[in-house]
Amino acid sequence: MLQYVAITLVTLVIGIYWYITRNFNYWKDRNVAYLEPTPLFGNMKETALRRKNIGILFGEIHKQFPNEKVVGVYRMTTPCLLIRDLDIIKHVMIKDFDLFVDRGLEFSNDGLGANLFHADGELWRSLRNKFTPIFTTAKLKNMFYLMTEGGDKFVKYIETLKGPEQEIHGLVQRYTIATIAACGFGLDFDNMQDKLHILLKVERMVLSQNIAVEIDMMFPGILKKINASLFPKFASDFFYSLVKQIITERNNAPTNRKDFMDLLLELRNKGQVQGFKKAESDETQTIAITDGIMAAQAFVFFVGGYETSATTMSYLLYQLALNPDIQDKLITEIDEVIAKYNGQVTYECLADMVYLDKVFKETLRMYSIVEPLTRNAGAEYKVPGTDIVLKKGQTVIVSPKGIHYDPTLYPEPEKFDPERFSVENSANRHPCAYMPFGIGPRNCIGMRFAQTQSRVCIAKLLSKFRVEPSKNTKRELEYDANRIIVGPSGGIYLNVVKRQ
Ligand code: HEM
Repeated sequence: MLQYVAITLVTLVIGIYWYITRNFNYWKDRNVAYLEPTPLFGNMKETALRRKNIGILFGEIHKQFPNEKVVGVYRMTTPCLLIRDLDIIKHVMIKDFDLFVDRGLEFSNDGLGANLFHADGELWRSLRNKFTPIFTTAKLKNMFYLMTEGGDKFVKYIETLKGPEQEIHGLVQRYTIATIAACGFGLDFDNMQDKLHILLKVERMVLSQNIAVEIDMMFPGILKKINASLFPKFASDFFYSLVKQIITERNNAPTNRKDFMDLLLELRNKGQVQGFKKAESDETQTIAITDGIMAAQAFVFFVGGYETSATTMSYLLYQLALNPDIQDKLITEIDEVIAKYNGQVTYECLADMVYLDKVFKETLRMYSIVEPLTRNAGAEYKVPGTDIVLKKGQTVIVSPKGIHYDPTLYPEPEKFDPERFSVENSANRHPCAYMPFGIGPRNCIGMRFAQTQSRVCIAKLLSKFRVEPSKNTKRELEYDANRIIVGPSGGIYLNVVKRQ
């Protein structure tokens, strides 16, 4: 009897071992450079055990293979391809985008799953088509006064703070939540304190690493098959009721605010959205604008909208504190431009703040926060310039961090140097050498919103204050391994000092 138990156990262990390593010759067999995988985890051990941020991990893999165009990686047990070569990236992300529409993380479309970031295929095309117009220059100009009002309130709030030392990320988050709430949903930050703690809880959960993602890496498509969602029910309930409350307050019709909720209302009142046609001969599909679709978009704009910008501005202020000469130059520009525009921060005056633009871009080079980028092959695909044929459904990965720290593109990559983004230097680089907002038709839809709201905040803040290192400012930042964005671990502490 004991013998049978022992044989069964040994067979089971061998079977499990075979199963969790069964694909690990995939890249070797195809003569592709690869990183030695660990059973079960593949190359993801450090992130699966929450010891390393996922964006940092892929940046490091990118760096380890300086002479390779592509690198074979194992996301848990699944073979995927990290693309390093900028021309291949251009093919996959831009020229052949129609074959790489999806991000490769499939889960239930129920609840908040049907949001623009996670939507796939035709649903994504239709949503993207409909929501792109909300971020036009004209729309941003209409919303601009809400950003400057938010900036003024923010500066007043800082004046009331005791002591110079502040945790910068939490501080700046006040401003970005207020602007996205006002621009997106017509909510006033001062009257939304009851909602604030739920929003922060939703954001913490949604932007945290989730074991379901690792399960999907092991068994691609399983979450979709069992109709599992990545988002907790309380988050869906919260956004459903938020959207419903706003619809009731607006009597079921768009107002003249022309904000995000107005656009959603317009679409809902039409009943359905006409799908996107790739070719004239295609049949037009329609997508019903249900309460679920509305809540899902409200959710992604809210969460995507404030945390990314708050994190970026924290890094920007951190670098200014460490580089006082750059801060001085920026403050001089801000003072001069604001004086030229009669003391006002206007939409037009932001265009005159060219140094601010360079500082912002350099910040996002050093700290691209939505990492890595992924796309799924919609069909078999021969990778240009190689012998590799991707299978349908296989995931390709691009590491903006890896590219942004490539010394052949950015000499001395650890140095904060805004001049890398002078017109001349930018023009001399490959178009895919800079991608903090992603790249191609599936890039960040909120890019211009993020750039505008961040610049307003920095211009307002530095017109009154400077930032300096405090006793708790770290010389080297660490990154939160539990987050899916590349955020600082333990916050960023700086002194915020009134300018003389
Ligand atoms: C500094 C701030 C921001 C950064 C660095 C950032 C970065 C990114 C990146 C890298 C992607 C993926 C792009 C790709 O796969 O090629 C993305 C997608 C997205 N972002 Fe942002 N983002 C920022 C701000 C915002 C804001 C303010 C909003 C909304 C108001 C927003 C909404 C979205 C949405 C909805 C998507 C999905 C787009 C799609 O799949 O069609 N983001 N973002």
